[in-house]
Amino acid sequence: MRALAGSGWTVYAVARRAERLAALAEETGAVPVAADITSQADVDALAGRVLADGGLDALVNNAGGAWGMDSVADGSVEDWARMYEVNVLGTLRVTQAFLPALRGNGQGSVLMLTSTAAFTAYEGGAGYCAAKAGEELMTRTLRLEEAEHNVRVIEVCPGMVKTDEFSRNRLGSEEAAEKVYAGVAKPLTAEDVADVIAYSLNLPHHINLDQIVMRPVAQAAQHKVIRRGA
Ligand SMILES: NC(=O)c1ccc[n+]([C@@H]2O[C@H](COP(=O)([O-])OP(=O)(O)OC[C@H]3O[C@@H](n4cnc5c(N)ncnc54)[C@H](OP(=O)(O)O)[C@@H]3O)[C@@H](O)[C@H]2O)c1
Repeated sequence: MRALAGSGWTVYAVARRAERLAALAEETGAVPVAADITSQADVDALAGRVLADGGLDALVNNAGGAWGMDSVADGSVEDWARMYEVNVLGTLRVTQAFLPALRGNGQGSVLMLTSTAAFTAYEGGAGYCAAKAGEELMTRTLRLEEAEHNVRVIEVCPGMVKTDEFSRNRLGSEEAAEKVYAGVAKPLTAEDVADVIAYSLNLPHHINLDQIVMRPVAQAAQHKVIRRGA
């Protein structure tokens, strides 16, 4: 968000917690809109707000998350449903709400934040992998369907990113979250991902970086993570 605002974009910052959005807006000049993407009413209101201001050039579908690390045998159906609801259906709702305007723009862009989990299985990951794989296939399908409308569809697939809440939400405690990154010299940061998002959206519109896989060097693959002194 900061990276896009810094390169001249007018950014609408969307999340559920209004107080955090207000602080971000204060810092960056972004337009805050509190909305839950799992609520159709919220998404309709969000689209109404943005379109009333004159439309948009790009949509970044970033909201998502993981809950639980249970095996398929023991996985919570509620956790799986929650992951599908936000990563797949939430992304679907927001994309549907803005596609007519993006087509009308003549040079629209949609950027999806999926994950390396979308195409690599790991023990305990099935619920999140399935949700991200669903989002990933929606992304590839969307690219095929929207090319004739000149809507560019970009997918960014990060590996290990150390963000404030992702692993805590998934594992339930700060302590468990810290272990995910223990000894890893330099996990990716939110800023790293934001730089790649801004880079891909700032390229001339006819260039579509259609799938970008980004990992820290220490994570050579999902199952090969270099940890020092951990
Ligand atoms: N961290 C990683 O290792 C990693 C790796 C690969 C891909 N990803 C993906 O990258 C994206 C961002 O992850 P992150 O690490 O930045 O996670 P995060 O720290 O948990 O941030 C998630 C963001 O999405 C918002 N959000 C969550 N649910 C929402 C909802 N229902 N409606 C509206 N906004 C919602 C949150 O704000 P509110 O809670 O205020 O709504 C927050 O701003 C996700 O799609 C995630 O799956 C993360």
